[in-house]
Amino acid sequence: MGHSPVALVTGASRGIGAAIAIRLAGEGFDIALFDVQAGQETAQAVKQAGRGCLPIQGDVSQADDRRRALEQIDQQLGRLDVLVNNAGVAPNVRADLLEATQESYDRVMNINLKGPYFLTQAVAKYMIRQRDQRPQGRACIINISSMSAYTASPSRGEYCLSKAGVSMATKLWAARLSEFGIGVYEIRPGIIATDMTAGVKDRYDRLIAEGLTPIRRWGQGEDVAAAVACCARGDLPFSTGEVINVDGGFHLRIL
Ligand SMILES: NC(=O)c1ccc[n+]([C@@H]2O[C@H](COP(=O)([O-])OP(=O)(O)OC[C@H]3O[C@@H](n4cnc5c(N)ncnc54)[C@H](O)[C@@H]3O)[C@@H](O)[C@H]2O)c1
Repeated sequence: MGHSPVALVTGASRGIGAAIAIRLAGEGFDIALFDVQAGQETAQAVKQAGRGCLPIQGDVSQADDRRRALEQIDQQLGRLDVLVNNAGVAPNVRADLLEATQESYDRVMNINLKGPYFLTQAVAKYMIRQRDQRPQGRACIINISSMSAYTASPSRGEYCLSKAGVSMATKLWAARLSEFGIGVYEIRPGIIATDMTAGVKDRYDRLIAEGLTPIRRWGQGEDVAAAVACCARGDLPFSTGEVINVDGGFHLRIL
């Protein structure tokens, strides 16, 4: 087994996932970077931080790709301490609930919910086996959900459903894995400046300026990565199934 702890970050070639991979490298993790894209820039930044990086090109919604990813991690890195389920997509078109298609529903649910759910299952089994060799080790699984887990947006119902599902998956896996010393956490980002939100920039600029979020600025990938680092380092040893909002206070009800 390798000496350095290893974190598997999905969707790490850009955006929030890239910020998470680079931050975890700074925290001393070697990184397995699993993305449909090649992710050379992130891999470069991880190496500049002095850590190893194993880029794995694959689609999180495909069972064969998930299996191959775990095999490569086992063969080349020999251990896995942290899983960050970050890869996710918005619907290709924002369609009204009355018009949205089953094709978009299946695509979004497969990538955002089914893929991470079964990747978690496979990784959890791996982490449980690993415990036999390292009984005192602590592992954790971190799900990147969204404020859409509880905020109804009728122009992207399938996205909201997928993120609400990720919230329940967090509770389910937290309940199941606590006996193995595996903490499971949900990070719930608000409005974060990435490619995903680039198309709605003007609208969100205006809403933020009008006070939609008590902290009046866009979130950055690094804001999300800071919360992930907190969980991955083991700073929350008596917490599991916990939700951390990284949303500038969007979730507060204010009167
Ligand atoms: N940007 C936001 O405001 C925001 C807010 C809340 C939650 N989120 C969530 O954060 C996560 C990251 O979002 P982002 O804003 O960085 O998006 P992004 O589109 O910038 O990056 C997503 C990354 O995931 C990869 N990816 C997409 N489908 C994949 C698949 N099937 N298998 C493997 N990799 C895949 C992409 O190649 C890309 O590298 C997503 O789960 C998203 O739902 C984002």
